[in-house]
Amino acid sequence: MLNRPSQSDATARDAFGEPDAHAVRRETSGPVAGGPRHVAVIMDGNGRWATARGLPRLEGHRRGARAVRAVVEACPDIGIDTLTLYAFSTENWSRPADEVSGLMDLFRNYLRRETEELTKNGVRVVFPGERAPLADDIKSLMREVEAKTAGGRRLTVAIAINYGARAEISRAAKRLAAAAAAGEIDPESIDERVFAASMSCEIDLPEPDLLIRTGGDHRLSNFLLWQAAYAELMFVPQAWPDFSAEHLRRAAEAFAERDRRFGGL
Ligand code: FPP
Repeated sequence: MLNRPSQSDATARDAFGEPDAHAVRRETSGPVAGGPRHVAVIMDGNGRWATARGLPRLEGHRRGARAVRAVVEACPDIGIDTLTLYAFSTENWSRPADEVSGLMDLFRNYLRRETEELTKNGVRVVFPGERAPLADDIKSLMREVEAKTAGGRRLTVAIAINYGARAEISRAAKRLAAAAAAGEIDPESIDERVFAASMSCEIDLPEPDLLIRTGGDHRLSNFLLWQAAYAELMFVPQAWPDFSAEHLRRAAEAFAERDRRFGGL
């Protein structure tokens, strides 16, 4: 599934290898009208990308970090103002120790190398997820990056590290239960709005409009389960290292053509 037909046949094909009904009126730059403001991405397929090429899995993650750079750079032009990336889940600790430490090194290098450029380009970086189990130097790099980029207004990039939606929801429930036990709130007052406020006291981001998963699988893997209630979902066959700015633009265009009814008519 990871390799799609080439574009050499007579039919115009879009970035996902599908017949392209809109080839004539496509733009290659500028904001996508009616496109998503907040895109969330499950960056899957790094390991398979590497294995298919006889490379170690970590090489797939390294190439994945390059794709992160390209996609982050492309967002403002497409009209995306928030990008959330699922970089490391609460379940990913169960991978072999060398893969986990390789991924942590990639995060370190990315944060060290990219902060200056991100700051210059008006990008604010935030980190959803539970930081406690991360190494001290990574935690201090995260604090540094957040402080340096706090003024960024062109794009917010949320890098989810040690993130799990169920854990996030449980923490919000625990905060509300503690407030109720302390007599600070009436349990009867807890509704969706109050719960959402308890969720967003960790990091306050708009809900994602579009959630993309690369790598061909069709599941959410404990990502943004509360926030993505009304997100449009796209599952694309490309492995994350092959995902480009052009794929992101095509996804934004496909989103613009969807009919979002939010349960109404
Ligand atoms: C899932 O692919 C991907 C990950 C668990 C890690 C994602 C991390 C990066 C792209 C590295 C750089 C990130 C930043 C933010 C600098 P997989 O390994 O599960 O793929 P597979 O399903 O093919 O095994």
